[in-house]
Amino acid sequence: MSTYDAIVIGSGPGGYVAAIRLAQLGKKTAIIERYTALGGTCLNVGCIPSKALLDSSEHYHQATHTFETHGIQVKGLSVDLKKMIQRKNDVVAQTVDGINYLMKKNKIDVYHGHGSFTDPNTIKVTKEDGSTLELKTNNTIIATGSKPSPLKGVTIDKKRIITSTEALKLEEIPKHLLIIGGGVIGLELGSVYARLGAKVSVVEYLDTIIPSMDRSLGKELQKSLQKIGFTFYLQHSVNSVEAKGKEVLLKATAGKAGKELELTGDYCLLAVGRIPYTENLGLEKAGVLSEERGRIAVSEQMETNVKGIYAIGDVVKGAMLAHKAEEEGMFVAEHIAGQKPHINYLLIPGVVYTWTEVAAVGYTEEELKKMNRTYKTGSFPFKASGRARASMDTDGFIKVLADSVTDEILGVHMIGPRVADVIAEAVVAMEFRASAEDIARISHAHPTYTESFKEACLAATANRSVHI
Ligand code: FAD
Ligand code: NAI
Repeated sequence: MSTYDAIVIGSGPGGYVAAIRLAQLGKKTAIIERYTALGGTCLNVGCIPSKALLDSSEHYHQATHTFETHGIQVKGLSVDLKKMIQRKNDVVAQTVDGINYLMKKNKIDVYHGHGSFTDPNTIKVTKEDGSTLELKTNNTIIATGSKPSPLKGVTIDKKRIITSTEALKLEEIPKHLLIIGGGVIGLELGSVYARLGAKVSVVEYLDTIIPSMDRSLGKELQKSLQKIGFTFYLQHSVNSVEAKGKEVLLKATAGKAGKELELTGDYCLLAVGRIPYTENLGLEKAGVLSEERGRIAVSEQMETNVKGIYAIGDVVKGAMLAHKAEEEGMFVAEHIAGQKPHINYLLIPGVVYTWTEVAAVGYTEEELKKMNRTYKTGSFPFKASGRARASMDTDGFIKVLADSVTDEILGVHMIGPRVADVIAEAVVAMEFRASAEDIARISHAHPTYTESFKEACLAATANRSVHI
């Protein structure tokens, strides 16, 4: 029986990063993955394929909606969805190959099969053909991720009533895509098909879309998505969804008014969050405890109640984001190796890859109000940005929240072109505890979208905005 310093269960961004860092630190490491492809949700059915389709569909949308204004004539434009999906599959395959290479490079033993505890130091791997083998380990990192959350009254048939996984490989462009949940998945995958010509209806339980972000972002994003064919039914609670042949019927009730809503579409995407994946992991055999909602309970060191067993990523508390899982993978590996790592959860940025993009870091205005923290606001609209006018992307703004006494930046909320990248500057600024004036006094290349962050900081610094 092979014995390891550490075994990682799950090869998503949490697991594979932890394995690489452990190997770098000289630990004999193995990783167990139940699927043949490494990379987890993120690489196979999450971040990477969704971004590939978002990019393809955005090209089509630009070609059909803005090329003419740019003076570019295109005739006979059409979508080859099969090819678009194939390109996405190729991107995924290349990315997964990269992880295989990294496992080899770092001399990490890879076991394909379902991992489960038989006791706190023994992991059984059950292969696809039913054969098993056992591995001994001093430390285990559970990085088994998450799966789509079910909803009462909705039976996922994976054909007409689908999750994000099926939405990434549809064989036709829906005529009318119904989406339950106005969160990140619903809006990103809804964008893909809206850009390709689908009518998209989003039924959201709360009174805003992307409810965990600063409210101003949800409002602005809603306007932007309505322009590309989205209809929103906010404060609606879904009672049932039924598929009959090629039709899907959704019934919901409006919150306050109690009015009944019926929508007929050809596909319905359920995207109301994700739940931790711990099925048949044998947690009880290792004595590992979960908290409410099934997430594995961990200490500040990401250690479970059992010494030497850690858990990271979507399977534990916090934002279900790939880069959060990666940080935790790095953290646990270094902790096991005796180092003193650190994670600042406030500074894990959140991004929505719609167009226009949404990105945020730090506290929202709602959180600051709740904390009774006094703050000032500086805002800059992209319509005042020369760069945004040049690219015809003038929707959106950047909002900076800074401490009203010390001027320290407390939160940055962006909606606009390429803000998924612009947010990195705000993260660095906050990590170094910059004031709004610090950023306002730094030269930013012209013309760039990043200048808008400087302008928002100028606005927060005693209203010194130059270009509005
Ligand atoms: P996962 O990536 O879920 O990996 C867990 C792995 O463990 C899986 O491969 C699973 O097969 C394996 N596993 C589970 N149980 C066992 C077992 N018992 N034995 C062996 N293997 C097991 N996040 C972002 O930050 N940016 C994005 O743009 C983004 N886009 C997304 C788009 C979609 C459509 C979805 C669904 C998610 C997206 N996410 C995004 C979220 C991101 O994918 C997750 O937060 C991230 O993958 C979590 O990483 P993880 O390592 O915790 O788990
Ligand atoms: P989510 O938590 O982002 O959004 C779920 C939405 O569904 C919320 O707006 C919620 O109010 C709503 N909802 C909940 N119950 C409902 C009901 N009964 N009826 C109608 N609406 C209801 O979850 P989502 O979109 O499923 O994404 C799952 C996870 O994947 C997220 O935590 C996210 O972090 C991650 N992800 C991240 C991406 C990114 O970083 N760009 C992209 C896609 C997913």
